[in-house]
Amino acid sequence: MMYASTQLQQCFNSWLETMAMERAPQSLYEPVKYVLSLGGKRIRPVLMLMAYNLFKEDIERAKPQALGIELYHNFTLLHDDVMDRADMRRGKPTVHKRWNDNVAILSGDAMTILAYQQMAQCDASHLPAVMDVFSQTALEICEGQQYDMDFEQRMDVKEAEYIEMIRLKTSVLLAGSLKIGAILADAPAHDADLLYDFGICLGLAFQLKDDLLDVYGDPAVFGKKNGGDILCNKKTFLLIKALEMANPSQRQELYRWIELRDFFPQEKIEAVTSLYNIIGVDRMAERLIDDYTAKAARLLDEVSASDERKAVLRQLMDGLKTREV
Ligand code: IPE
Ligand code: IPE
Ligand code: MG
Ligand code: MG
Ligand code: MG
Repeated sequence: MMYASTQLQQCFNSWLETMAMERAPQSLYEPVKYVLSLGGKRIRPVLMLMAYNLFKEDIERAKPQALGIELYHNFTLLHDDVMDRADMRRGKPTVHKRWNDNVAILSGDAMTILAYQQMAQCDASHLPAVMDVFSQTALEICEGQQYDMDFEQRMDVKEAEYIEMIRLKTSVLLAGSLKIGAILADAPAHDADLLYDFGICLGLAFQLKDDLLDVYGDPAVFGKKNGGDILCNKKTFLLIKALEMANPSQRQELYRWIELRDFFPQEKIEAVTSLYNIIGVDRMAERLIDDYTAKAARLLDEVSASDERKAVLRQLMDGLKTREV
């Protein structure tokens, strides 16, 4: 049987609800349960199960790894929100806001370990390959996150450096999810690699869209506050391109806002957003999203499964272009 995206999401959420987490102290596990209960798109476990389902039917076999990948993703969110000083996620206060930084750090650490425990629950025949992909992915996310932080202080970040940064912080987790799903289903190695590359392109489009939504999204739907990236001087595609395409006076104004230490947040967000609009970087980001999505589609075409089987992945891919959450 073939599963649709919403079915997989529901199925995953029901697994998550039955995951045992009756350990003490409550103060360590309460924030874990909190963040997991706030929803989220569950796109990484869904991708893993879709990849598995391209080749095999019994998706329950991938349950621990699906739980592991979502636990790991949610751990990165706890730490990312400390690093980005973000107050809102999934429409609710972030863990470090609701509790404090120390709680976000340690509950996040615990989630990493829980993720590893889940990930390791597979046949001995799959274990080395699964752990190889997972560990490499986990390390690359740290690398991407450090580039992301380093770039806040730099004014000369190039588009190619940005793409490499988002490949590491975001794409590899989508790609790794797909590859692990394929490995568990004993897919041909070439298909597992194609699915990984598909996930990289999908992830680049996904993060570009996230950067757009950070500026233009509806906070009530997106669940995060607008303008967080602008306030941190994040070198998003939008800012990099704006700096590149600006005329001298626009560039001077961008620099002024970036260097300003004392300002009203809303005023900076509005000023930088209107420069983005005038320079037209939002449309450039949308075009790049289309390019990466088209590249992803071509990679998916090459995977040796029926078009009927691959339709769910294609639908999910197309849906991400117009997502508002
Ligand atoms: C947020 O991921 C972090 C990014 C890589 C942009 P998601 O947008 O998948 O967040 P949830 O899990 O659906 O909340
Ligand atoms: C996402 O970067 C990367 C990770 C969480 C590892 P962002 O910082 O853009 O993610 P959001 O927007 O806070 O979800
Ligand atoms: Mg963030
Ligand atoms: Mg971040
Ligand atoms: Mg973001």
